Amino acid sequence: MVLLKWLVCQLVLFASLSHAFTDYLLKKCAQSGFCHRNRVYSDNIAKSHHCYYKLDAQSIAHDPLQNSLSATIIKTIPRLDGADIAVELPFSLSFLQDHSVRFTIDEKERTVASGGSLLASQRYNETWMYAFDEKFHDEANKTNFPELRFAKQEHSTDSLWSRLSSFLTHSNSTTDTIHLQNGNISLEILTEPFQLKIYWQNSLRLIVNERNFLNIEHQRSKEENFAHVLPEETTFNMFKDDFMYSKHDTMPLGPESVALDFTFFQSTNLFGIPEHPTSLRLMDTSQGEPYRLFNVDVFEYNIGTTQPMYGSIPFMFSSSSTSVFWVNAADTWVDIKYDTQQNKTMTHWISENGVVDVVISLGQDIPAVIDKFTDLTGRPFLPPMSSIGYHQCRWNYNDETDVLTVDAQMDANEIPYDFIWLDLEYTNDKKYFTWKRNSFPNPKRLLSKLNKLGRNLVVLIDPHLKKGYEISDSVINENVAVKDHNGNDYVGHCWPGNSIWIDTMSEYGQKIWKSFFEKFMDLPADLTNLFIWNDMNEPSIFDGPETTAPKDLIHDNHTEERSIHNLYGLSVHEATYDAVKSIYSSSDKRPFLLTRAFFAGSQRTAATWTGDNVATWDYLKISIPMVLSNNVAGMPFIGADIAGFAEDPTPELIARWYQAGLWYPFFRAHAHIDTKRREPYLFDDPLKSIVRDTIQLRYFLLPTLYTMFYKSSTTGFPIMNPMFIEHPEFPELYDIDNQFYWGDSGLLIKPVTDPGQSEIEMIFPPGVFYDFESMASFVNTGADPAVKIIPTPLDKIPFFIEGGHIITIKDKYRRSSKLMKNDPYVLVIAPDVKGHAVGDLYVDDGETFGYQRGEYAKTRFVLEDGHILKNVPSHTPDNLMDIHNDVLRNTNIEKIIVAKNELQRDIALKDSVTIKQGGEERSFPTKLSHEDDNKIIIMNPMLDITENWELIF
Ligand code: NOJ
Repeated sequence: MVLLKWLVCQLVLFASLSHAFTDYLLKKCAQSGFCHRNRVYSDNIAKSHHCYYKLDAQSIAHDPLQNSLSATIIKTIPRLDGADIAVELPFSLSFLQDHSVRFTIDEKERTVASGGSLLASQRYNETWMYAFDEKFHDEANKTNFPELRFAKQEHSTDSLWSRLSSFLTHSNSTTDTIHLQNGNISLEILTEPFQLKIYWQNSLRLIVNERNFLNIEHQRSKEENFAHVLPEETTFNMFKDDFMYSKHDTMPLGPESVALDFTFFQSTNLFGIPEHPTSLRLMDTSQGEPYRLFNVDVFEYNIGTTQPMYGSIPFMFSSSSTSVFWVNAADTWVDIKYDTQQNKTMTHWISENGVVDVVISLGQDIPAVIDKFTDLTGRPFLPPMSSIGYHQCRWNYNDETDVLTVDAQMDANEIPYDFIWLDLEYTNDKKYFTWKRNSFPNPKRLLSKLNKLGRNLVVLIDPHLKKGYEISDSVINENVAVKDHNGNDYVGHCWPGNSIWIDTMSEYGQKIWKSFFEKFMDLPADLTNLFIWNDMNEPSIFDGPETTAPKDLIHDNHTEERSIHNLYGLSVHEATYDAVKSIYSSSDKRPFLLTRAFFAGSQRTAATWTGDNVATWDYLKISIPMVLSNNVAGMPFIGADIAGFAEDPTPELIARWYQAGLWYPFFRAHAHIDTKRREPYLFDDPLKSIVRDTIQLRYFLLPTLYTMFYKSSTTGFPIMNPMFIEHPEFPELYDIDNQFYWGDSGLLIKPVTDPGQSEIEMIFPPGVFYDFESMASFVNTGADPAVKIIPTPLDKIPFFIEGGHIITIKDKYRRSSKLMKNDPYVLVIAPDVKGHAVGDLYVDDGETFGYQRGEYAKTRFVLEDGHILKNVPSHTPDNLMDIHNDVLRNTNIEKIIVAKNELQRDIALKDSVTIKQGGEERSFPTKLSHEDDNKIIIMNPMLDITENWELIF
């Protein structure tokens, strides 16, 4: 009660200000030429049922070089005079090694329109080279093409058969349908209308172009346009853009959009296509705005809208484990329409230009399709252990003394942390790659002081470069600045005033960018604790259309910004990552890097965050589905600014935000320059203790979290993990995005996200659950998930461990993660109703690439029959005994906590436990161990995680 009163007083003191992103800066679909045109086209096609695209069966061939099927889709524009226009659209289809289907549709002949002479004439088709993992650059199409079966139409000729003779069999059907079987996937290609039907174990999962929304706006001149427009089309803004903020777009190539519909069967639950401040389960957009993927700077973004944000991942999947990856980095809109009656979902994808390039994956379950997606686009990088600890950031820490005071105060108050951050103002006059020397006279000295406790410094480096200093001069001299539509260096406005932008889409641009880091990070060999934050890389341009780059800018001498817009941020952070990695190569250190803009593939090298949120309860609430969305889209290393970037949070909000933020894979406090200082040691008790305990809890859980990051780096498995992934069998869980699991650890969490909430409702699947703090258990004996009320006083974090799991923690406060390295492990065992449990542990040195050479330990703990605990190591490093090997300094288990539950066989602590190891058996007294109603604790069992043993208690 006292606590609540205190909170109410604080609430009154901290009245919140009004805030909102100026939405009118961004286009609505109706204001975007190509989005509007495609919506109109699809509405009209739905009425007319016309179909203008057919696949020419005669053109089908096997391309042995690409190991793909190739053909031509013909778009026919009927003309009254009978001189119909036929546009040839090359089509290719191949299977990836995991049986995913990839198809592309390009446009054959294009000539450069007048005024467009600087631009490449062909449609941009290189997005995949940035998005796919390097190993697919060679292998993308290398899987053997499966056997084809043709349902043959009368006019099919022998020459067609002979061209395909090596892999087709005949059939006597009368429709032009080509059947392909590849593993569990079968596919039908229909020629007229062109369609693809995709089956998983013979059950229909997806139809491509079911609704005939395929639309490729082929090239034509403005003068001839009238002859090229279909009856269902509108000519709205085909050659101009009349949106107030982008009306200067020269649009040299006229209309170029590509659009296609995909119908998902057996599901009315879709997920993915981050980043949006909306629910995890995607909304039906048929009565509103489509989801838009277009990287932009959205300070204080509006919640609940489908507006674009800082990052874009055009990957979507259904609850029937079917995914579509739309490999296109241009401005993109996605419409979604659920049909619950027919249990299907219709989607419509529209991009401003480029080619249709799509990868469709199917699997046994949802993790299988995420696995395939992150195999293709690259696994999330395994971050240094320190970077999954706590990050203390603010715009800005003013000088060296400020940084070192924060550092000392964190220690004095027993608040662990690993990273301190320098925002914009550490630079000399916002010139990146320089230091404000009055405030930071000796960066090496600062780094060296931080290094003593294993701490790291992150500094901000943005891709806009102030005009008129060494770095920007060299970008101009080396001719690696992004160009305007006339081919001159583009100048726009950002933090430093007039700026140019480095063109990291060009290889030479990347090289120059790297050389800046080499000079800037020229540090003594023992200092490898400086890391980089790439902000504003959408790019954010204050006087640019829609807060970003004009679409007619030119990259790498011939590519329009329009084609690569959503890739630019990735190109910046990848070049930065490569630079830092090579600078630290002698110490083999893994870089940590934060990027604000991202695309599919960004997970290979960078973490991200949800951008400029506000210190209100709504932003705390929305952060959870946002973090979950990225987690299911292959980019799990994400968090939200704690406790809200803009404005001053109330003490209650601070407490609750830390308690929620502790579960974000990326755990960082950050605050706007205009806010009051809020480093956790500045708070009064009880807030200070609450925040300290919360941060300490994160550190105790690091072994479990790091194991999950490892799993994610090998399979893409989400770290903040939606309920439906763990329990897909319960339809009611598909809508839940305020409660989640932590990876596959069994930890089930529901953060408090409302003020004055003294209790919350949590939903529990069938099984046994233990309150993590007390280990008090309760069992949901029903067949369905059940709701339970959990009391939530301000110091309570509602989190449980589900029976059947074992997690590993460390339970001693240390100042940083590095200092925990020597600490022994504690096992927490949560038996299921039958007394079984299992859990994994992954350990490496936490900082180098040594793990890629086998320098890691991996083990599985298994509890059987409630009282037999086995350790089954699956990997230990060869050089475990090497004195120089820093991988596993302490591999001992100091404590084993076994939770009790009412249904489990009665376990009780005996006088001694038995340990079987290496063919021998020994007894171990448990005098100093402990037992209460909820758990038994076995102290000092003298067991090592790297050895095989069995403990019977
Ligand atoms: C925008 C970023 O989103 C924010 O986190 C940062 O503090 C400011 N830029 C200043 O660099």
